[in-house]
Amino acid sequence: MALSDEINAIRQEFSQALKNADSDPDALEDLRIKYLGRNGKVQQLFPLIGQAAPDQRPRMGKLLNELKDTIQQTLEDSREQAERRQQEQELDLDVTLPGKQPYVGHDHPLVLTLQEMENIFASMGFVSVEGPEIETDYYNFEALNIPRDHPARDMQDTFYLEDDVVLRTHTSPVQIRVMEQYQPPVRIVVPGRVYRNEAISARSYCLFNQVEGLYVDEGVTFADLKGTVEAFAKRFFGPSANIRFRPSFFPFTEPSTEVDVSCMICGGTGCRVCKYQGWVEILGAGMVDPNLYQYVGYDAEKYTGFAFGMGVDRIALNKYGVNDIRLFYDSDLRFLRQF
Ligand code: DAH
Repeated sequence: MALSDEINAIRQEFSQALKNADSDPDALEDLRIKYLGRNGKVQQLFPLIGQAAPDQRPRMGKLLNELKDTIQQTLEDSREQAERRQQEQELDLDVTLPGKQPYVGHDHPLVLTLQEMENIFASMGFVSVEGPEIETDYYNFEALNIPRDHPARDMQDTFYLEDDVVLRTHTSPVQIRVMEQYQPPVRIVVPGRVYRNEAISARSYCLFNQVEGLYVDEGVTFADLKGTVEAFAKRFFGPSANIRFRPSFFPFTEPSTEVDVSCMICGGTGCRVCKYQGWVEILGAGMVDPNLYQYVGYDAEKYTGFAFGMGVDRIALNKYGVNDIRLFYDSDLRFLRQF
């Protein structure tokens, strides 16, 4: 048989043997030895080149080398495929299944609410300021016109750390800290955590968040307070939101008011969220009591101002239709992932 015929015969024989090996790694290795080994079928053909006609020898050499390369490459590919299939079986991997999405975290609903509030006030020129959560009696009460033994202290159940040191019960002390440091005009909002020693329930928790506001300058009036609160409410709750002012009392403002917004769930007709009132309280406010200016060295004849304090958690409850404030503090991902 001519050498070229033998080469073709081996090529065919190999391709049949490869099918029979059925990607079995051991069978593939046997094939490698049988064809490419030192005494393998391909190797044995090389000496026959010398018996071919001289002008045929280069071509024979080339054919033979091609055969060798093809068999080598084919065996390598088959082995890789076999290994991959084996790995997949070991991993029990189904490559046709949709991938698993890694969970990407995001901001807490209270943080989202705070940021939205800060942004709205920033657009009206209010600068965000923060203050300490551990406060002295002086800033939390005294300088806010709440002297020792004054009944107004009962409005806020306080966590005392020492005789004169408390967990702040509101963000109002930052009003004093800022006025001590800066002369008017002062226009700030203060987001932050506050603490109260209250019975925990669906509506109140031992800590919550407030946004304090303060604007002091020459000629600031109650109309400015109303305009600012109304502009905020329309931006935050939507253009159909209405607000109403009720007279109230706070030691650090005179006159004082509490502000309600029309219920964003029922639009004012009455539902469970607003306890069938149609209104939800969002903040306390008033004109800064001139007594405070004595503590910070402002000229009470020259300057007037307004202040407000918003309860962020209750607003977030209403905004997101959540019915239990404790959910904001449980860190339960089943809850938090919904925002
Ligand atoms: N600090 C008050 C509270 O926590 C809320 C408040 C009311 C803040 C009136 C103010 C204000 O700045 O003017 O209950």
